[in-house]
Amino acid sequence: MNTNTHDITLTVNGTERELSVEPQTLLVHALREELGYTGPKVGCESSLCGACTVHVDGKPVKSCTLLAVRADGTEITTVEGLDDDSDGLHPLQEAFQEEHGLQCGYCTPGMLMTAASLLEETPNPSRKEIRESIEGNLCRCTGYQNIVNAVESAAEKMAKQEAGD
Ligand code: FES
Ligand code: FES
Repeated sequence: MNTNTHDITLTVNGTERELSVEPQTLLVHALREELGYTGPKVGCESSLCGACTVHVDGKPVKSCTLLAVRADGTEITTVEGLDDDSDGLHPLQEAFQEEHGLQCGYCTPGMLMTAASLLEETPNPSRKEIRESIEGNLCRCTGYQNIVNAVESAAEKMAKQEAGD
């Protein structure tokens, strides 16, 4: 037994998972390498790119900035759990596809999780609000325009769904 490891429990996408991690293990590595959730990507590992963004207790967090031991007992949503009714794609995922909001896709899981938080708090955001919300998420491919279009389109889709159309 490795006495340096700590036993922690994470609820990931609604499923309780127990794991042992070293004190310095970052949440993103615990999710990817210990639990197999490879949606969150490792880009910079220094809080700059946002590719590792997940929700921790409902808030967007760059999972390279949080030690796994500090996340003990939290509820985590990764991009794999974004569409919680499992009937296909979340409206944001559909909109990113339709509006060409991705190219290589490396930034996309983080963009989606950040945008999902925005739309939860601000269901009808302005383009400025969309741009401000994703300022911590870097994309080297798209030039951002199509990402903003996609988030705007997803907001419209979700408003229609809410209205029962
Ligand atoms: S990998 Fe976490 S912010 Fe870049
Ligand atoms: S689509 Fe390639 S980094 Fe954003």
